Amino acid sequence: MSTLTIARPDDWHLHLRDGAMMRAVLPHSAQHFARAIIMPNLVPPVVTSAQAMAYRDRILAALPEGMAFEPLMTLYLTEDTDPDDVAAAHASGLVKAVKLYPAGATTNSASGVADFGKIRATLDRMADIGLPLCVHGEVTDADIDIFDREAVFIDRVLDPLRRATPGLRVVMEHITTSDAVDYARAQGDDLGATITVQHLMLDRNHMLVGGIRPHYYCLPILKRGSHRAALVAAATGTDTRFFLGTDSAPHATDTKENACGCAGCFTAPIALSCIAELFDEAGALDRLEAFTSLNGPAFYGLPPNTEQITLTKGAPIIIPDPVPTDSGTVTVFDPGRPVHWQVQ
Ligand code: DOR
Ligand code: ZN
Repeated sequence: MSTLTIARPDDWHLHLRDGAMMRAVLPHSAQHFARAIIMPNLVPPVVTSAQAMAYRDRILAALPEGMAFEPLMTLYLTEDTDPDDVAAAHASGLVKAVKLYPAGATTNSASGVADFGKIRATLDRMADIGLPLCVHGEVTDADIDIFDREAVFIDRVLDPLRRATPGLRVVMEHITTSDAVDYARAQGDDLGATITVQHLMLDRNHMLVGGIRPHYYCLPILKRGSHRAALVAAATGTDTRFFLGTDSAPHATDTKENACGCAGCFTAPIALSCIAELFDEAGALDRLEAFTSLNGPAFYGLPPNTEQITLTKGAPIIIPDPVPTDSGTVTVFDPGRPVHWQVQ
């Protein structure tokens, strides 16, 4: 097969940032994706419905003429979040999910949750109204090894939280381990899981053997190859709870290529090419559309896009040049191996 036409994909986990950075990266998502769940970890974070509405307006204002793109807004859950504000934001259609960052887990997560008892009222209300909780699933305890933080989070935080809040719809964001895959598979349809491009294509050897590659550093961190294999099996399999969330996360190149580099891979421009390559390798091109365009909308209770895109297979694509912004360039993710699929 060398041509593939599918319903236009959505990105169920995307960092667009704000200001000049947003204006620079937004067209790269809008070019391929119809909609995206927009992460709220700005500085300061998008906590209230008023902030989400203003952010949405800034995104739409930054969209180049003639491009269509629907930002699906999220609220950043804090210990002070007002359940009434969350419910109103959901009722108006503005907000499609609430994001839980454990305090200190990742970029701009300082306002996240340390005392999970303090978010109980909000979680209960979300379960009542059917508003999904997107979870960055890593514990932050200093004594837990960074490679174990996702698996420990599932046992210590996620499972107890879900048991305490029956009916809460939860997305395990950017899962990276076979532990997460196994957990998700054993749950009902109130649980979904997103998977990124980099976690499907790379393992920690790609990041660390033969030199440290800062553009592969993200959180949760890349894991060993057996975990990657479990993620590929989940993404390319028939379980509809797994869907694409790129977690494309732009940082200026000099803040990545740094003695203390930022976490995040800017994958938006080549995300679909990489995913198609991977499904092709797995002999699963017939299931690509489910992963990129059908399973996500089904989980969020939205219709799939009626528009279509066509991918073609040819000579290896050239990785796009770094994207210029006011604060330096942003380096585009390069998986380090040939990618033959291109969006027309
Ligand atoms: O690698 C990451 N980058 N992981 C996250 O959770 C946040 C993101 C960012 O905002 O840069
Ligand atoms: Zn993210």
